[in-house]
Amino acid sequence: MNVIRRRGWEIADRDLTPEHTFFNRRSFLAGSASALALAPGVALAQRASDAANLPDPTSDLYPAKRNEKFVLDRPVTDEKINSNYNNFYEFGSQKTIGSSAQVLRTRPWMVKIDGLVEKPIEIGIDELIRKMTIEERAYRHRCVEAWSMAIAWSGFPVRKLVDFAKPLGSAKYLRMETFMDPKMAFGQKQSWYPWPYVEGLSMAEATNDLAFLATGAYGHPIAKQMGAPLRLAVPWKYGFKSVKSIVRFSFVEQRPKGMWEALQASEYGFWANVNPEVPHPRWSQASEEIIGTGERKPTLKFNGYGDYVADIYTGMEAERLWA
Ligand code: MTE
Repeated sequence: MNVIRRRGWEIADRDLTPEHTFFNRRSFLAGSASALALAPGVALAQRASDAANLPDPTSDLYPAKRNEKFVLDRPVTDEKINSNYNNFYEFGSQKTIGSSAQVLRTRPWMVKIDGLVEKPIEIGIDELIRKMTIEERAYRHRCVEAWSMAIAWSGFPVRKLVDFAKPLGSAKYLRMETFMDPKMAFGQKQSWYPWPYVEGLSMAEATNDLAFLATGAYGHPIAKQMGAPLRLAVPWKYGFKSVKSIVRFSFVEQRPKGMWEALQASEYGFWANVNPEVPHPRWSQASEEIIGTGERKPTLKFNGYGDYVADIYTGMEAERLWA
């Protein structure tokens, strides 16, 4: 993500993704393996990760059966490329956080469901996953930084979680929150970010066919850097809406404020639906680079998913839907 430096939460130069890095992602990716091999912190991170790497108790559920309803216009991005090109600010602001994210402890992992529900509960991730039927869906993924990928997620529709939670009629939004553990995730020590990472959906969005909770990717449990053990995938929106490593779902009446919105509301709004005709205040959204190919493609409105979601937004012309 790109944020303007402002007083109060100014980001040190070393923490910004330099513009030249952003525009030279391919060479950045090519160089990343050797750069990592030389980094002194990596050996330490690896040792910590060995301790954190317990066998996943749900691995028998993968690969899940593909839901053929969702088709792609491009090949799925190579897993190696995807797992070395991530945004997960809890582990740093550079794209190559794959190694440092291995310290993320994903078990035990409790998920809280609260707010305007019949009965708030806390449930272990493995019990939650086994209550749902896992399926595979190939989705496009468009970041607000104007790059894209295609991923075969495994998981279950958000709607299933909503059914399980039994929200009250007064619930208007679903607020989702990432873990908070600055000892484990050094990025959370950076106090200019309003941690923990939060994002939200309206109930109409959450119960839409497309809204998906990913527990796996590429035919196995989801990698840590992609948001293990549970992350959102809402492919018609810019990627920052797809909150990773969720520990809490709250059904609420007030529209939740996401972390990026709290940081810079003029650039990262609540709805954040993809639209090539509405530029980000500082760059065009007309096209995207398909990571791993070097190819640029024109971006599609709603990232090509308008048939599924456009109806949700009728009558909402007064809202800022596109950024
Ligand atoms: N969730 C958390 N908790 N922390 C983050 O930094 N980054 C967001 C989103 N979810 C982020 C997050 C952004 S900006 C994007 S583009 C996607 O995750 C990136 O997902 P990927 O790494 O699987 O491509």
